Amino acid sequence: MSLAVVILAAGKGTRMKSALPKVLHAVAGKPMVQHVVDAAASLDPANIIIVYGHGGEQVKATVTGEQLAWAEQAEQLGTGHAVAQAMPHVKEDMVLVLYGDVPLIRPDTLKEFVASVDDNTLALMTLTLNNPNGYGRIVRDGQNNVQRIVEQKDASEAELGIQEINTGILACSRRFLEESLPKLSSNNAQGEYYLTDLIAMASQSGLNVETLQPNEGWEVDGVNDRVQLARLERIFQQAQAETLMRDGVTLRDPARLDIRGSVQIASDVIIDVNVILDGDVTIEEGVIIGPNCVLRDANIGAGTVIEANTLIDGAIVGENCQLGPYARLRPGTELADNAKVGNFVETKKSYIGEGSKVNHLTYIGDSQIGKGVNVGAGTITCNYDGANKFQTVMKDGAFIGSNSSLVAPVTIGENATVGAGSTITKDVDDNGLAVARGQQRNVANWQRPKKG
Ligand code: UD1
Ligand code: CA
Repeated sequence: MSLAVVILAAGKGTRMKSALPKVLHAVAGKPMVQHVVDAAASLDPANIIIVYGHGGEQVKATVTGEQLAWAEQAEQLGTGHAVAQAMPHVKEDMVLVLYGDVPLIRPDTLKEFVASVDDNTLALMTLTLNNPNGYGRIVRDGQNNVQRIVEQKDASEAELGIQEINTGILACSRRFLEESLPKLSSNNAQGEYYLTDLIAMASQSGLNVETLQPNEGWEVDGVNDRVQLARLERIFQQAQAETLMRDGVTLRDPARLDIRGSVQIASDVIIDVNVILDGDVTIEEGVIIGPNCVLRDANIGAGTVIEANTLIDGAIVGENCQLGPYARLRPGTELADNAKVGNFVETKKSYIGEGSKVNHLTYIGDSQIGKGVNVGAGTITCNYDGANKFQTVMKDGAFIGSNSSLVAPVTIGENATVGAGSTITKDVDDNGLAVARGQQRNVANWQRPKKG
């Protein structure tokens, strides 16, 4: 059976008190509705229809995915009305309804859920809560069959005592939706077209209503304000941290690691506190990451040690390298094995060859550095003339004395030496020495000026 997923995302989200549409607020750096789209995509549906309203253009411009279609719900007349807006796009046999502000629903749960649907069966995701306040309640008959859902505002005293609630997630045949949605009325306490009224119609027309509860309650938690958003963020981070630890990663404190993207971390990696992993990050075996490091879109080779307060963005780092403390690798940096980039060193669009060292207080931009090069403290590649960027080349075995300025374009030859404090504007030959600084003059018995 072919599947369409309808994602309801038209709500205003007033309680977020935000210029940003609610469903674009992020959990783990990703908009909530994108989490839902990605979970839906894991079912490989033929079609994903997002029902949008408030801030629709911004939502459309942000969300990415395959087989996406958009349906506008200009006025929010209820969840039943919202699904009806999507129906012109639906050609598939089966329809799953999800919510753009319920971001943590897991693919495995959804797979099990849709597997229970057929032409004669509607699936409903429910949850049993100690405090069911605010939710629609699941009303069952004497045989424990689901009869209907009653919304909080329409419920009797007895119904309010029911602890099984409607999560809102349901799946059924397209045919049933096409027949039933037009029959909904808004004759209820909220004057809305309730999607939940379909359950009574289903049970009256002899459909089976199957219920499933998620493994984790948080999978069906919705977000209405920033307090709930922060709560789900913590839950999601904790779940990610636990997965890593089970896969053999040591986290000094699982509550102080934030992952905002997709990571691949090998076993025996050790991560200290307050680390942020952003985007696509791959970390090979045995890497040690000190406290307060940020890694974004980075590959880190086995055995590398990253000391405290190091920032790595868009870089590839080889094996057994040593970084930081306080190093900053900017996009386009590539380090070969055994390279060292020390404190207060900034690199950008540069290759640093095997075993080369840039240990202190240096800027390396637009550079190609060979093997076994030593770049002294305070060295600067002057790669920019105010209009254009130029390349600096340091060949194998070069030695750059401290506090040198290498004015690009310039090449320092193999095993060449640059004297400390030099401003190098011309290429240096292989094995040569370049010294480009004022001559030292010594004056004997120099008398310093005296005060008053
Ligand atoms: C709904 C269910 C309730 C369930 C609860 C779970 C109905 C009538 N009630 O109630 O049984 O326990 O969710 O959280 O379905 N939306 C639209 N367009 C609309 C109305 C809503 O897109 O016209 C979207 C909202 O953005 C939101 C979702 O549908 O993502 C749920 O709407 P909401 O108003 O929060 O429904 P509840 O009253 O909480
Ligand atoms: Ca709600």
